[in-house]
Amino acid sequence: MHIHKFEKIWLIFGVTTLIIFLTVIGVSAFYLGNQPPSCLATVNPENVDTTAPFNEPGLKKVEGKEWDYELVFVASAFSYNPGKVEVPLGAKVKVIATTKDVIHGFEVAGTNINMMLEPGFISEYVTTFDKAGEFLIVCNEYCGVGHHTMTSKIEVIE
Ligand code: CUA
Repeated sequence: MHIHKFEKIWLIFGVTTLIIFLTVIGVSAFYLGNQPPSCLATVNPENVDTTAPFNEPGLKKVEGKEWDYELVFVASAFSYNPGKVEVPLGAKVKVIATTKDVIHGFEVAGTNINMMLEPGFISEYVTTFDKAGEFLIVCNEYCGVGHHTMTSKIEVIE
């Protein structure tokens, strides 16, 4: 079969473009979409309540780390533990969170904190609370009938 020279060029161009396109999609899906939060940190979702640091949810002062406090949250349908927490103004905090059941969100309104909590994985975010006030934590991943009632609160106090 004789293929016209230009048709051949276009065919090669088309196939090459398709391959590049698929590669880009595949690579970005792998690196962005399918990667669990904070890469390798895992926890058995069945034993969350007995596994440190999740056996003691809430704020804890730490020494010798790049942050001053660790703030531990355990999510489950349809609440967070703790349901409310006070953080001193200016504190550098590592937020550490996981879920005991299904996927939940963890968005702190008015801040950059927006994590997805996946069963079996630990999500972490280091931030400095440099604005006083109340910050609502909301679940932004649909998790069931109580999804819209799933909240907690961070109170940054002076
Ligand atoms: Cu938890 Cu939506």
